Amino acid sequence: MSGLFISFEGIDGAGKSTHIEALAQVFRGQRRTVMLTREPGGTPLAEKLRTLVLNDAMDAMTEALLVFAARRDHLKQLIEPALARGEVVLCDRFTDATFAYQGGGRGFDAQVLQVLEGWVQAISGSSPAAIRQPDLTLWFDLDPAIAAQRLVGARLPDKFEAQPVEFFRRVAAAYGKRMAEAPQRFARVDAAGGRAAVWQEVQAVVKRRGWLQ
Ligand code: TYD
Repeated sequence: MSGLFISFEGIDGAGKSTHIEALAQVFRGQRRTVMLTREPGGTPLAEKLRTLVLNDAMDAMTEALLVFAARRDHLKQLIEPALARGEVVLCDRFTDATFAYQGGGRGFDAQVLQVLEGWVQAISGSSPAAIRQPDLTLWFDLDPAIAAQRLVGARLPDKFEAQPVEFFRRVAAAYGKRMAEAPQRFARVDAAGGRAAVWQEVQAVVKRRGWLQ
């Protein structure tokens, strides 16, 4: 069986986490081996970088370099080997988050991000040179004002969660742009509905691709 790589994206408070876990259960029910992971993070080194990125003040380029360094380690140590074994990799955020948060939110140059993406995600030995991207990206799209309400009192906000709603409007717009650039890879999920409705939509998208019975 060939590997399957699905990423989950959206602004903070969009509510993607419960659905990642639920989708993992469904795949396991179909006898697939599932690797549940996240970015930044997923390996011991990348988790250390995550702590820095989420807590320490730094300029946008430093932030971008650290998330891509974490991604490189994650791909090398965990994602590529899992895909080679034919596993299902469910990843809470991937490169689109960098374009959305560092690019859109913090205003860092998207062209530089594209160069880093090309280096970090190059599939070694592929000819012509190919870049690793998810087979599917589920984008949980939610009005930033509603997401902000959902986050109130949820827990102590990290560096990004503490940003004002305007920041998340830019993040959301950048997700929209990424989707427009790769419409076949993306599926937009309307995250405004209740949990059950969103879950139905998630399952429908994956079934439509022929990956679930
Ligand atoms: P998140 O995925 O929301 O995890 P949790 O549910 O544990 O808070 O947190 C990760 C944060 O990191 C989120 O605010 C987005 C940010 N981020 C970036 O800024 N750039 C990136 O490339 C990635 C992957 C995440």
